[in-house]
Amino acid sequence: MEVIVLKNVENVAATAGVLLGELLRVKPAAVLGLATGGTQLALYHRLVEKYLDGSLSFKQTTSFNLDEYLGVSADNNQSFRAYMNREFFDHIDIDKHNTFLPACNEEDNPRLVGPLYEKKIHDAGGIDLQVMGIGANGHIGFNEPSSSLGSRTRIKTLTKQTIEDNSRLFSKDEFQPKLAITMGIATIMDVRRILLLATGENKADAVGKMVEGPVTAMCPASVLQLHENVSVLLDEKAATGLKNRQYYDWTYRQNESLKERFGILHE
Ligand code: GLP
Repeated sequence: MEVIVLKNVENVAATAGVLLGELLRVKPAAVLGLATGGTQLALYHRLVEKYLDGSLSFKQTTSFNLDEYLGVSADNNQSFRAYMNREFFDHIDIDKHNTFLPACNEEDNPRLVGPLYEKKIHDAGGIDLQVMGIGANGHIGFNEPSSSLGSRTRIKTLTKQTIEDNSRLFSKDEFQPKLAITMGIATIMDVRRILLLATGENKADAVGKMVEGPVTAMCPASVLQLHENVSVLLDEKAATGLKNRQYYDWTYRQNESLKERFGILHE
């Protein structure tokens, strides 16, 4: 795992934007994995800026989101589809027909949605780069603690903590879903490169466990220790639970100078 600690939220978004841009320049038809959540907002806004100033295009890009609430349709403002359109897709040149979420509407059989989503990802050639956040309980996507590390896209019941953490986004009389469809942990492990972004002190504990704790289903993000191409981008606050901080800073400096001398590694 490459751990990159940056000063603040803006620097995290800027660095993630640079890494994503590096991929799109060599592979304009890249398949991106995307995520919702407060953490990703600064990144999406950054990418919109880059599109508007002409330095990035998403015209040939395909995207797959990590998760979606169960039974919440696209026209519901609380759906992750609505979030993606509002914060990102409506402002760039991506073809929305090439943007996918594991949506499961009233008429769909939720047991079939997962395998179909897996097939769609496979048929698109797999995900080149997955952007994601981490839950305060260590979840990735909506893979809550105790999720099978071999899981595929399926329905998950949200934990009380996740429901509480996300309740800030719902008004009092609004229905807050307790079920979601999420890419599984094995689905995530199949992607070629992962950028995990975490900001704020409420993520410090989960980040510490993900990077330095044992690999365990009780902290689903810890499985990323077994992935060969993960960069964890943190602000100072999210990094406060790390014991090995000095080493990560030193390594990052080395990696930057190697990149300068030998260029970026591409497939
Ligand atoms: C949500 C999402 C995750 C997200 C995480 C953190 O519930 N399912 O994909 O990474 O929780 O969200 P936030 O960035 O708002 O803290």
